[in-house]
Amino acid sequence: MSHPLKPVLDGRETVDPNLVPRRILHTGAQMPAIGLGTFGSDHVSAEQVAEAVNAAAAIGYRHFDCASVYGNEARIGESFRQIMASGIGRRELWVASKLWNDKHAESDVVPACRQSLQHLGLDYLDMYLVHWPFPNFHPPGCDVSSRSPNARPYVHQEFIKTWRQMEKLVELGLTRHIGTSNMTIPKLELLLGDARIRPAVNEMELHPHFQQPELFDYVRRHGIEPVGFCPVGSPGRPDRDRTPQDTVDTADPVIVRIARRLGVHPAVICVKWAVQRGQTPIPFSVNPNNFLANLRGVVSQPLTIGDMRDIGAIDRNCRLIKGQVFLWKAEQSWEALWDLNGAIES
Ligand SMILES: NC(=O)c1ccc[n+]([C@@H]2O[C@H](COP(=O)([O-])OP(=O)(O)OC[C@H]3O[C@@H](n4cnc5c(N)ncnc54)[C@H](OP(=O)(O)O)[C@@H]3O)[C@@H](O)[C@H]2O)c1
Repeated sequence: MSHPLKPVLDGRETVDPNLVPRRILHTGAQMPAIGLGTFGSDHVSAEQVAEAVNAAAAIGYRHFDCASVYGNEARIGESFRQIMASGIGRRELWVASKLWNDKHAESDVVPACRQSLQHLGLDYLDMYLVHWPFPNFHPPGCDVSSRSPNARPYVHQEFIKTWRQMEKLVELGLTRHIGTSNMTIPKLELLLGDARIRPAVNEMELHPHFQQPELFDYVRRHGIEPVGFCPVGSPGRPDRDRTPQDTVDTADPVIVRIARRLGVHPAVICVKWAVQRGQTPIPFSVNPNNFLANLRGVVSQPLTIGDMRDIGAIDRNCRLIKGQVFLWKAEQSWEALWDLNGAIES
């Protein structure tokens, strides 16, 4: 069996991308089961993120999770050009981008996708997601009290108009797949009833302290791959996404114990657990040692059945990205965004 690590010119190890597990989507396409996140959380510059994309491709990453609202797609596009000039073919890459919430109008979807493609320097995307199911948006760097003018709840008749345009993007060849993000079971039920082209993935918050077992099982049962954001508990997330009740995955005694035994950072255990559980984590990092460790973690010795059971038992139902800035009524609590009673909040 070939060894997953081999040295490169600057002495850094690389991981053979062919050894990275893949998820088979409903089209038969294969998505690498780990990607690099690219949201700089309002404090990591576009330049730093783009450099990380370049370095991550050089060490073996092929999947990149982008979004127009991250404000760095044009700079990441320069990295993609360099990556492809280095001999990595477009077909070897898996690039996702997302429709921002202020572009849900029917006439805005196709131009928004074309704009991301132009910034990223690509002819097509592998995945294009509706970033949030609400047309409510926020400016970069805002605080938790920010609210969108004319903020609205989820209205299915409106969302399906946006989705028809997403389907058109597939027909136009601008993206190979479309998907959702931050959806709930009641919203997905409606969408699956009306979609002509099904969502191939649902991007959702997933980490050991927020395992979302019901939604995780639901999407997999319906042939939708779960892509997990904040996989290591998003230690660098913006202040608007922090509350005193939030817990820290990488400080959990179970995660720390396993990390010590394997001689890795606790973040690596979160990433290994995610891939082994069956989701596709997209850890963000601009530190080459860290993003190499995360990739190496998914091609090395798996966690034991006991480790998986122990991590499965530390779920704290601790949602970090509560989404307060997308609320539509004064005095409303963030839980309204997540349909906790099983019905869509209006
Ligand atoms: N769809 C959505 O609504 C949505 C929402 C949130 C996020 N996302 C996506 O998900 C991605 C990941 O989420 P996130 O960035 O919030 O959180 P995350 O990936 O859980 O955490 C990233 C942080 O963890 C650190 N880290 C990563 N690997 C590490 C390691 N091996 N050792 C030590 N520290 C490590 C990074 O620091 P260093 O840079 O120093 O390594 C960075 O500060 C985003 O970048 C974005 O692409 C999507």
